[in-house]
Amino acid sequence: MRTQVCIIGGGPSGLLLSQLLDRAGIDTVVLERRSRDYVLSRIRAGVLESGTVGMLEKAGIATRAHAEGLPHTGTYLAVQNTGFRIDFDALIGKQVLVYGQTEVTRDLYDAREKAGGIVIHDLDGVELHDLDTDAPHVTYVKDGTTHRIDCDYVAGCDGSHGPSRQAIPKDVLTEFERVYPFGWLGVMADLPPVSHELIYANHPRGFALASMRSPTRSRYYIQAPVDDPLDKWTDDAFWDEFRRRLPHDSAEALITGPTIEKSIAPLRSYVADPMKWGRLFLVGDAAHIVPPTGAKGLNLAVSDVHYLFEALTSHYRDGDDHGIETYSQTALKRVWNAIRFSWWFTTTMHRFPGQESFDQAIQDSELRNLQTSVNAQTVFSENYVGMPY
Ligand code: FAD
Ligand code: DHB
Repeated sequence: MRTQVCIIGGGPSGLLLSQLLDRAGIDTVVLERRSRDYVLSRIRAGVLESGTVGMLEKAGIATRAHAEGLPHTGTYLAVQNTGFRIDFDALIGKQVLVYGQTEVTRDLYDAREKAGGIVIHDLDGVELHDLDTDAPHVTYVKDGTTHRIDCDYVAGCDGSHGPSRQAIPKDVLTEFERVYPFGWLGVMADLPPVSHELIYANHPRGFALASMRSPTRSRYYIQAPVDDPLDKWTDDAFWDEFRRRLPHDSAEALITGPTIEKSIAPLRSYVADPMKWGRLFLVGDAAHIVPPTGAKGLNLAVSDVHYLFEALTSHYRDGDDHGIETYSQTALKRVWNAIRFSWWFTTTMHRFPGQESFDQAIQDSELRNLQTSVNAQTVFSENYVGMPY
């Protein structure tokens, strides 16, 4: 088989890139190791930056997001069980949209299917070849047979454990990493959310986040040791701990009940530099990981897609390779800003092992500054709603 851009990974970044390129008349094939149902069963991000929503519009898949997503014009931060609000709309005239990654991915799969796009599922053994030549190719195994795809470019959209990043020689790649000494225990529950907007809570017992997927589905998290056995966290144990960390008025309003999903995720920051090698581009989690505080992961994947889409269309439409040559530098600039913001937000909101009274006082002071300074709130809003592309 031959295609112009071979896309490895059918998560949000691979599918969005494929959808946009297809609309620009550029051929793609998407190779996804898992089944569509498996990809759609993964519960992940929930908050879309305004730029991300703009990209969904550009891809022609924003109808359901606009109809069912929840626009949020602000968010609550809390310290020592007392909350305060940051009003993005009043400060910078922007908002975010609460709409699950699962739904974005479903909309993308539906659009690819409608357009007759090629997405090959349930495969194994993806290997990238001749990336540093003008004629790269990708091989994979499906149903015991090895297949080959010749292409102009390879887009590595295969997440943090995929083969694309591994294909960059070790002496070319610089990796930056910070592992945080705690995880997030997350639950989903078919219960009305405790607050109409998100609450990010700093508390002496640890961080807590109240989020949602819809007016009847809550998504809640608490900071927990990453190696805690899940069976320690019965529903009752979760609700008890979560309630203690919320602002007092929210704790009183919290509606509890059975949870429908529970898992613990580790937190880390990671950046691979460069994001381009020969004819390979890394996109999304294949190139970088952020801790979830601030909901940047999916949004960052979408901004990579933006830069790569612009670069590839300039190449095919105008014969202009400037965007291709500068993709890594351009994308990394925005990536590092989100890495910085999510590191700062994580550091400010969580309890660290061995944290001393000095560290606690600095966190309190940081949050007091945010509560009282319009300038600090404006900077927070710009970062939370997402820097322009
Ligand atoms: P992915 O979604 O990882 O997609 C990569 C795809 O590549 C997958 O479908 C995978 O099956 C496929 N693949 C992998 N290896 C191969 C291979 N060898 N061959 C073919 N295909 C392959 N972000 C937030 O903003 N907020 C959150 O609350 C949040 N929660 C998260 C929870 C978890 C458990 C995880 C892992 C991530 C979370 N994130 C969150 C981050 C966010 O989900 C990611 O940033 C986003 O999924 C990145 O999209 P992507 O398409 O780049 O990568
Ligand atoms: C969600 C996750 C986040 O990491 C975040 O900062 C906000 C919301 C969520 O899953 O809803």
